[in-house]
Amino acid sequence: MNPETTANRRRVLVLHGPNLNMLGVREPGVYGEDSFEAIKEAIFNRARKLGIEVDQFQSNHEGDLVDTIQQALGRYTCIVINPGAYTHTSIAIRDALLAVKIPVIEVHLSNIHAREGFRKTSYISDIARGTICGLGPAGYLLALEAAAELESC
Ligand code: DQA
Repeated sequence: MNPETTANRRRVLVLHGPNLNMLGVREPGVYGEDSFEAIKEAIFNRARKLGIEVDQFQSNHEGDLVDTIQQALGRYTCIVINPGAYTHTSIAIRDALLAVKIPVIEVHLSNIHAREGFRKTSYISDIARGTICGLGPAGYLLALEAAAELESC
């Protein structure tokens, strides 16, 4: 199979959950110093290089994220999501992802397994195609590489 042709068919929705719009300002010792704008730009640039279409959406509101996941049905071949704190609480986001049946790649900037106990539980990991955590903003770029590579995305 021609990887260029395959990659061109990929349409990836990158979802950023609550407080991720504060990156660069928010706890730089944990989340790094790159601004949210810089991270979004790096995502757009990598997607362009890979020849995949990408849209990005950030919200601090659970229902907005649920609405956006529902609207992704039929429009995207893969969802890359950092649900922020909703990772550890949101059955609604989990259910929306299950409802649309779009392959999911879960991303976290920090290593959620090396932090407070409550961050070790993810409502997303067991329904995700894969999870990347602890690699900082590079995690989003690796998720795009995976989306371009994987048959199911
Ligand atoms: C996070 C980890 C979550 O525990 C936290 O609530 C976030 C960011 C991360 O990217 O490391 O908001 O998802």
